[in-house]
Amino acid sequence: MSNARRPEGVIRLLLVDDDPDDYALTKEVVAEMPRGPYELVWVSDYESAKEAISKGDYHVFLIDYRIGAKTGLDLVKETQVHALHGPVILLTGQSEDEIDTAAMSAGASDYLEKNRLNAVVLERAIRFARRQWETEQELERKVAERTKKLEAANEALLDADRRKDDFLATLAHELRNPLAPIRNALEILRLAQGNPNAVEQSRQMMDRQVRHMVRLIDDLLDVSRLARGKLRLTFVEADLNEVMQDAIEAVLPIIQKAGLTLEAPRHPEKLPIVADRVRLVQMLTNILGNAAKYTETGGKVTMSAALNEDHYVITIRDTGVGIPPELLPKIFDLFTQIDRTLNRSQGGLGIGLALVKRLVDMHGGFVTAHSEGTGTGAEFQLRLPLKPPETSHER
Ligand SMILES: Nc1ncnc2c1ncn2[C@@H]1O[C@H](COP(=O)(O)OP(=O)(O)O)[C@@H](O)[C@H]1O
Ligand SMILES: [Mg+2]
Repeated sequence: MSNARRPEGVIRLLLVDDDPDDYALTKEVVAEMPRGPYELVWVSDYESAKEAISKGDYHVFLIDYRIGAKTGLDLVKETQVHALHGPVILLTGQSEDEIDTAAMSAGASDYLEKNRLNAVVLERAIRFARRQWETEQELERKVAERTKKLEAANEALLDADRRKDDFLATLAHELRNPLAPIRNALEILRLAQGNPNAVEQSRQMMDRQVRHMVRLIDDLLDVSRLARGKLRLTFVEADLNEVMQDAIEAVLPIIQKAGLTLEAPRHPEKLPIVADRVRLVQMLTNILGNAAKYTETGGKVTMSAALNEDHYVITIRDTGVGIPPELLPKIFDLFTQIDRTLNRSQGGLGIGLALVKRLVDMHGGFVTAHSEGTGTGAEFQLRLPLKPPETSHER
């Protein structure tokens, strides 16, 4: 609305009426209304009314039921005046029940008989119509806002649903994968019973594959426990040096198999920490396992710990494929995998880092990832308090 040049507080009324006498009458009535100031603008035919309404510069529309060959209801419906511009009060020659009903269903706020029109009646009708119209508008704004929020929520749900579908496919694949080499190894065992070399090789192969499956399934169980709030931590006193050693032992076979060097100098001092020891090893194993998985043969993985006042910082760095900057913020989300073609042989479910994030959070710490982009390696930092805050206990 362009009320800029109008004096403040003036209530602008548009009268649509084809009878000059009725205009004169309405003008007199309006002049007597005490709560103004009011400004009454008159148009006398259907087309000028349409034009005036479309300018949208009025607070209330007073519309005669008869406008030439057409009716006020036609005008209300055609211009959507009530929905778009302001409240409508329909004026009629005499009381007619059908007009009353039709007026309301067309969206008019009120309906007045001309021969009973006076300053009190009209002013009250205007006041009520405006208040009601504003309430309606406010309600519609709220509904629109709510609808927008619901749509966004729905979009998020659909997205999560799609990711779950993808995840199911990946899961089936990942669980099926180790079975082929295990079946091979069984066949080799059957054929080469006397050959200790072949037996040992098969045994090692089956051991690796079964371990891999156990890890996958354990991760899955953890995700499901976390989702249901069923995961409990057991905090104990531990030495971070030993925790890191356990993690190294767990990933060493993978690191060696990938042809990588691991540099993890033991910290010269004891590094006391109160934490869930098993979960701490799991977090480090997940990050180290990724470093091994996403680094090409000949690369290097390093791990170190430092004490900063009241917390430890564990840094795990690799010289691998790196992480594109736009994907960095997403890698801790469940089921995020950057490029499955990159590590098809390595597999994975995209839940390792999501678990790390939740677990470190339950310890009152946090995890961050850095990478300068594809091909530049990646660095993960775990920040852990010396002991978890009280609220973390028995979570
Ligand atoms: N050290 C790393 N270097 C490069 N990319 C990584 C590294 N660690 C994690 N990522 C990326 O983050 C994704 C999520 O990791 P994770 O949750 O452990 O799932 P997964 O290893 O099963 O794919 C990986 O798929 C990979 O794209
Ligand atoms: Mg992983």
